[in-house]
Amino acid sequence: MPPTKQLNIGMSLAPTWLSGDAWLRSDSGVENLFHGEFYLDIAQRAEEAKLDFAFLPDSLFLNTSMLATGAGFASLDPTLLQASIAAGTSRIGLLSTASTTFFPPYIVARQIQSLNWLSKGRAGWNIVTALDGNENFGLPEMPSPEDRYSRAAEFTEVVRRLWQSFPQEALKLDRVNGQFADPDQVNPIDHEGRFYNVKGPLNLPRYDKARIPLIQAGASDAGRAFAASVADAIFASTPDRAAAFDLRKDLRSRAEALGRKGDDIRILPGLSLFLAPTKTEAKELFAETNARVTRQRGLGTVQEMIGLDLTDWPEDRKVTGAALPPPPEKVRSQTHSQLLRRMIERDEPTVVDLLTRPEVVGSAHWLVVGTPADAVAAIKDWAVAGAVDGFVAFPGGSIGSVASFLEEVVPALSELGLFRTAYRGTTFLDHLNDR
Ligand SMILES: Cc1cc2nc3c(=O)[nH]c(=O)nc-3n(C[C@H](O)[C@H](O)[C@H](O)COP(=O)(O)O)c2cc1C
Repeated sequence: MPPTKQLNIGMSLAPTWLSGDAWLRSDSGVENLFHGEFYLDIAQRAEEAKLDFAFLPDSLFLNTSMLATGAGFASLDPTLLQASIAAGTSRIGLLSTASTTFFPPYIVARQIQSLNWLSKGRAGWNIVTALDGNENFGLPEMPSPEDRYSRAAEFTEVVRRLWQSFPQEALKLDRVNGQFADPDQVNPIDHEGRFYNVKGPLNLPRYDKARIPLIQAGASDAGRAFAASVADAIFASTPDRAAAFDLRKDLRSRAEALGRKGDDIRILPGLSLFLAPTKTEAKELFAETNARVTRQRGLGTVQEMIGLDLTDWPEDRKVTGAALPPPPEKVRSQTHSQLLRRMIERDEPTVVDLLTRPEVVGSAHWLVVGTPADAVAAIKDWAVAGAVDGFVAFPGGSIGSVASFLEEVVPALSELGLFRTAYRGTTFLDHLNDR
């Protein structure tokens, strides 16, 4: 087996360490949730750990039913926040999220390219087709998955062409001859498509030092086809190693079939980390954090994802593949629904066990509840097995998980030769290619 490459590691700045009941802790800092310094501090600590990137997901709706017990989806605008973080950091990549279902492509092209200038080549775009929020954009219902991905493909093409429409080299800034730019090098894109008509050019030159990495989130068949065609990395939900291995294998071969190299697309699962000095304490941290995730909410999630109503089931009854009804016609995410079905067929969990699984409570992310050494062992295991090219860390339970991850797990990975000890490049793309 060839030696395992170094990993690409990002960390979410969405404060998952305040999720569930974690914000109730006296040291949670929840009062600063909507202040920039709160995030800048974490981003600076992630930069000290030499991470590839700091990541901000996004959603464009407010789930008021969650608001009584937690922030739900209330958050600062991710691209504005990354722009403020750009000023206080110098090396770490800054990955923002923008939906192809709700935004116009001209705006996204301009915002992400602006972030690239403000950060001197450290911007990245997490392309999402979004799960919810249609009513905030004049859409009576969410467009079908096929429609959303067709739109995403055209949207991304328009954004890339807009970025090319005004290259930095067109800027002449020639004081002697009085020439600011060469208009012949700045061209409209004249795009007329199924969803968008965009003339261009973009009203901002491209920052030429670095191409902006594209990350994609969503792994249905249509999502994979789209990711294989354009993405530098896929941000994935893979709760078990086999799911990650299969996804990586599939995406690499899809990319190769399109004339790209397998290594051009990196598989970066979300990794939830509940870390403490002992396994017992970590388990307590996980249990305390999720103590108020009500049975009712869990049951609602299961029903929405796979159409199975467990309301009257006893806690200790096993849920088996035979109990699964045909998949509902409409689900928010095919990826998450399929992962839940797969886990039930494989593990046949009891009702009570099912309701604490990552597929139900943790966006189906890879989950480690344990010591920093447990996390290192799990990451090494997945990396050596060829299941991942890196991951996006989501520390949970308390700010202590953030510190343990950055100050213990990451250095231990470096000691194993699985992660850098110093930045070699200055742009986000440099970091992705440094492995
Ligand atoms: C790991 C992961 C992260 C995602 N993050 C976001 C996000 O931050 N914002 C958003 O609107 N949608 C997000 N999505 C939703 C996807 O963009 C997509 O709309 C959804 O997963 C449905 O597509 P699929 O069936 O291909 O998974 C995410 C999906 C996955 C799997």
